[in-house]
Amino acid sequence: MKMSAELIQNLNEQLNKELYAQYMYLTIASYFIENGYDGFGAFFLKQSEEEGEHAMRLFEYMMERDIPFTPMSIQAPPKDFASPLACFKTSYEYEQEVTRSYHALFKKVRESGEYDAEEFLLWYIKEQREEEALMRHWVEKLSMADENPAALLFLDKEARKAAEKEE
Ligand SMILES: [Fe+2]
Ligand SMILES: [Fe+2]
Repeated sequence: MKMSAELIQNLNEQLNKELYAQYMYLTIASYFIENGYDGFGAFFLKQSEEEGEHAMRLFEYMMERDIPFTPMSIQAPPKDFASPLACFKTSYEYEQEVTRSYHALFKKVRESGEYDAEEFLLWYIKEQREEEALMRHWVEKLSMADENPAALLFLDKEARKAAEKEE
């Protein structure tokens, strides 16, 4: 079954969003490592790696379905964060934006009878639910720490443990 040009464009855009997330989390990791927060740095390196895997999963699906890949430029992410909390807030907001785009795409594939794409995209719907919950959890913790150095160092250690625990 041949996919519509619009859906092909949308899949390429999703792949670009995943690559942007990979680049954004790499940038945030650098912000943390350069500021002495190695644990948060490790956490965001792990997240960056996972976003790269999300992009690859889309790429492999596209190749399997004979869907042409269109290279697009990746925006430069911000790095001028005011605080560790600001990094997590930016990440949480971006995860919510990505969730919205997957939901919009899911609606379109369903309405166009693209059942195979629907089944494929379900993985991302679930993944986004988990990623939003993860970032929300850290936004809450960082809000409680309220820039208290001792609390931030404790959370930095916790973030390293979280990065090592996952998979
Ligand atoms: Fe992702
Ligand atoms: Fe994500």
